Amino acid sequence: MKLEIIQNQEELYNRAVDIIFNFLKNGATTYGLATGGTMLPLYECLRNSKLDFSHCRSVNLDEYVGIPKGHPESYHSYMKRQLFDAKPFKVTFIPNGEAQDIRKEANDYEELLKSLTVNLQIVGVGENGHIGFNEPGTSFDSESHVVELAASTREANARFFDSIEEVPKMAITMGISTILRAECILLIAIGEKKRFALEALLKGVITEDIPVTSLLQHPNVIVLTDLNMDDI
Ligand code: GLP
Repeated sequence: MKLEIIQNQEELYNRAVDIIFNFLKNGATTYGLATGGTMLPLYECLRNSKLDFSHCRSVNLDEYVGIPKGHPESYHSYMKRQLFDAKPFKVTFIPNGEAQDIRKEANDYEELLKSLTVNLQIVGVGENGHIGFNEPGTSFDSESHVVELAASTREANARFFDSIEEVPKMAITMGISTILRAECILLIAIGEKKRFALEALLKGVITEDIPVTSLLQHPNVIVLTDLNMDDI
């Protein structure tokens, strides 16, 4: 694992763009994308960059179940607004949270993902250590599946909705083993709220109670954070 601590956030996101640029330059065509507040400045940097993804594929980590794709806080809407309208990809895949049979949709998404190689997977991390929507306790062997969101995750994401009641209770997410199949994983963790998760990762304890620690099993992970980790 390669840890880069960059306290200036502008520099940190520029570094993330630089990493993506290098993948593009080296011919990488398949990118795993993430959502959440952490990714907003990254997508702003990408929108303002010269990078061209029009020959690339994207796959997203997850999508809510229970709100329509057109809802402003669906991850379909988020991706369109934050990236795809300005930087179109040749093809983009996001789980369909509106599917009639959501378990089949999750299985179909996994099959699709098995048919391709993600060159670079970008991930954020939840305050409880979740990656994608893989909540604490999720098996590291998990594939794409339907999840019930932890109360703490719904509370953390309530800031994007008018009230906590409006935050979906379920989602479809790539599993942990799905995420770990990517050739390289770029984790971005910003702010004190992520200290618990990042500390666990840096302490090197691999536990299903803190999903982000699964990244320790991957040979090629880059961590970008603004957190001072001197105490570890
Ligand atoms: C969300 C997403 C994750 C994201 C995480 C952190 O619920 N499903 O993919 O990494 O939680 O979000 P934020 O960046 O807003 O803190």
